[in-house]
Amino acid sequence: MDKIDVKSLRNRAEKDLKKAGNLKELDLIFKNYLGKKGEITSILRSLKKLSENKRKKTGKQTNELKSYLEEEINKKKLLFAKDIEKREEWLDITAPGEKHYIGHLHPLTLVRRKIEEIFQAMGFSVVTGPEIENEWYNFDALNIPKDHPARDMWDTFYLKNGKLLRTHTSPVQIRYMEKNKPPFRIIVPGRIFRHEATDASHETNFYQVEGLMVGKDISAANFKAVIQEFLSRFFNKKIKTRLRPSFFPFTEPSFEVDMTCLVCDGKGCSTCSQTGWIELMGAGMVHPNVLKAGGIDSKNWQGFAFGIGMDRLAMMKYKINDIRLFYSGDLRFLRQF
Ligand code: PHE
Repeated sequence: MDKIDVKSLRNRAEKDLKKAGNLKELDLIFKNYLGKKGEITSILRSLKKLSENKRKKTGKQTNELKSYLEEEINKKKLLFAKDIEKREEWLDITAPGEKHYIGHLHPLTLVRRKIEEIFQAMGFSVVTGPEIENEWYNFDALNIPKDHPARDMWDTFYLKNGKLLRTHTSPVQIRYMEKNKPPFRIIVPGRIFRHEATDASHETNFYQVEGLMVGKDISAANFKAVIQEFLSRFFNKKIKTRLRPSFFPFTEPSFEVDMTCLVCDGKGCSTCSQTGWIELMGAGMVHPNVLKAGGIDSKNWQGFAFGIGMDRLAMMKYKINDIRLFYSGDLRFLRQF
């Protein structure tokens, strides 16, 4: 093996150290001398091949050089670190900061709160009911007996325990009538479920607002007035509506309320299937059988009920053309509200 000259090695190392101008160069020096394959490391490894005398002498010198170099490298590293700290004070305090997004309410929550506010101002109470229902409240009590073809109007998710996911908010009509004496007026905002194919205007999970007003001389004219007032407050302008005769087992007569499509202002677009109208709610005068099922004497009391599609209302308010956006969790959509 070559003659080991620790002295000249030390000279070289000192020169290298002096030249080193940054952390990277220091690391390189460490690697070259003290790393796994570094010069000092390999000398220390080959000591065992030397005679005892030489081994003692060279070993001592090399170990001294090793600790000296380690120390110097560390000292210089600290110096460089301080330099960097100094440099960091050169912050450009005029540079624009990073934007932090803060949480906010979902568009459906905004719409729901607005609906509640308007109806409360008209004397309605806000009531809720369970999303998991039984057949009695969801169907039978609403004048839809078992095996009646009208059940096909609602494609239902049935649960293994015999219960079901409510297909509308109407069961809460019965639940409320059971516990409260007329006259009363309530709205019931809530989530409902339908076993249907989804598309731009249909979801399997969406929201309705049920309305129920029962009193002595309540008529369809009262219904029209309440709904017109609600819509003009909700949209902050007069909204054109039309009533079409319809059928629901729990109302008689029944009608469907359409409003001008606000996405296209009635001109016709994909949201309104080119008709210029959006189906907004089913409604009607509460069927005597329903009042009876709720424990109310249908000779003395009458009323109207309606079920508004809350998603539709939100779509009209914000000109959204696909109901699925509400449930997509897509932040590009949600951040716009
Ligand atoms: N429950 C009906 C539906 O989901 C809507 C409705 C409610 C109709 C109240 C009339 C009265 O289709």
